[in-house]
Amino acid sequence: MATMPPQRTVLQRMFARKSIAQVQRETATSELKRTLGKWNLLLLGVGCIIGAGIFVRTGSAAALHAGPAVLLSFVVAGIVCAFAGLCYAELSSTLPVSGSAYTYGYTTLGEFVAWIMGALLLLEYGLAASVVAVGWAGYVVSLLADFGLVIPPQFTGPAGYTLMKDGAPVLVNGQTVTTLFNLPAFLICLALAGLLIRGVSESAKVNNAIVAIKVSVLAAFIVVGGLIVLSNFSELVATNWTPFIPENQGEGKFGVDGIMRAASIVFFAYIGFEAVSTAGQEAKNPQKDMPFGILGSLIVCTVIYMLVAAIMTLLVPYSTLNVPDPVAVVVDAFGPTWSWLAKIIKVGAIIGLTSVVLVLMYGQTRIFYTMARDGLLPRVFATVHPRFKTPYINTILVGVLTAVAAGFFDINVLGDMTSVGTLAAFAIVCLSVIYLRRAAPELPRGFSVPLYPVLPVLGILSCAYLIQTVPWDVLKIFLWYMLGAMVVYFLYGMHNSNLQKGEPQDKVADMSEFPAPVGTQP
Ligand code: ALA
Repeated sequence: MATMPPQRTVLQRMFARKSIAQVQRETATSELKRTLGKWNLLLLGVGCIIGAGIFVRTGSAAALHAGPAVLLSFVVAGIVCAFAGLCYAELSSTLPVSGSAYTYGYTTLGEFVAWIMGALLLLEYGLAASVVAVGWAGYVVSLLADFGLVIPPQFTGPAGYTLMKDGAPVLVNGQTVTTLFNLPAFLICLALAGLLIRGVSESAKVNNAIVAIKVSVLAAFIVVGGLIVLSNFSELVATNWTPFIPENQGEGKFGVDGIMRAASIVFFAYIGFEAVSTAGQEAKNPQKDMPFGILGSLIVCTVIYMLVAAIMTLLVPYSTLNVPDPVAVVVDAFGPTWSWLAKIIKVGAIIGLTSVVLVLMYGQTRIFYTMARDGLLPRVFATVHPRFKTPYINTILVGVLTAVAAGFFDINVLGDMTSVGTLAAFAIVCLSVIYLRRAAPELPRGFSVPLYPVLPVLGILSCAYLIQTVPWDVLKIFLWYMLGAMVVYFLYGMHNSNLQKGEPQDKVADMSEFPAPVGTQP
């Protein structure tokens, strides 16, 4: 049995890396077929990307931060994602391993960074699932109201918030309403955790059907809304797009600062494009098709988002968009002839958002599962249900965590935390590309980031820039969270990791495959 030398220092242990061969051995048990072509991969990306970002968060980004210039925020966020996307494409075509940025971290920058990545991915997947669940609840409450079914307003928002509508408190019997918790968002998380335990496999066919529904709903919005806009273009521009960039009011409200602040919010709308990189083992021709899938889905979504945002801000004053269902609100402005379309759009949004919550929760359970198999989390997280063959204990935990976050916390705080965590994860991915180019230049790369090292460096800087546009209150919570994660690593992860213990499944004999960072060689 291979064991680590007993005299290894803490630094050496933090930077211990899995070799590619080792990760390949661990994933060799999966008998996945290579069935996904480049268009399947692109659709997989679009399927993961389109969700609460465009259906919900665009509204508050425009109303509170950027006004009509939220279009430019989408461009900024799209460019930041493109930098990271190119880096993901290079890693996925260089490291023939399945898994997420967590595995990339483990094979490049070492165990500590992999752990940090695990903590960031809990925000990118787990917390994002809560955000989308809150968005889902917004459309469900709105659709039920269309049919006369009213959920008591106290149960439709986070704990301790005054219920608002059109910028004013909602009054019931002359009293303001304080929300207790978001019951629909809470329940959908638990219900989908139940489904995941039963083993809902996201088959490519089901995914393609749901993507078709989401894209059709947005296409209908773009076509009908676009025709209405074109019939009255100059007047709408004069009323709702003048000024296009409202005057800066400080604190990230409007002006160029507001555009950047809104970019960190609508960045959420792009999260998921890197899911394509996790399908490497199922791609027919990963070297060529992965970059196509990742960048292609990013471009398609940027175009869709800009068109949707343009129509939204042209048809209604941007200040009215801070609502749980902004797309439906804009359809109402199409006029009474289109009231049926508002209902169809709500149904399409609900179906689309359900699948995004499911995919994000699924991703989170698999990350916990992998970390538990690596010994970085307790083994119980990798326990598989005897009948359903799913990691049920970890799925119950993910269900409860996402349900509590969705039920009790404000979508804006949750969304900001998700964006910050994901931006930090993207920055580490860009850094991993730079590290790997220096440490293992000879590895064959199916795809190489162009203009290296400019683009990965720009990736790191642009992620850092967007992070600092987020309010300090949220950044403080994020920093405490990361500090807590680091403490848990030193108290638990470092002492229980298979890699550190040299357990058979994790032979470290060929760690020499990549040289360790300077100063950490055993
Ligand atoms: N990009 C995904 C969404 O907008 C997470 O819901």
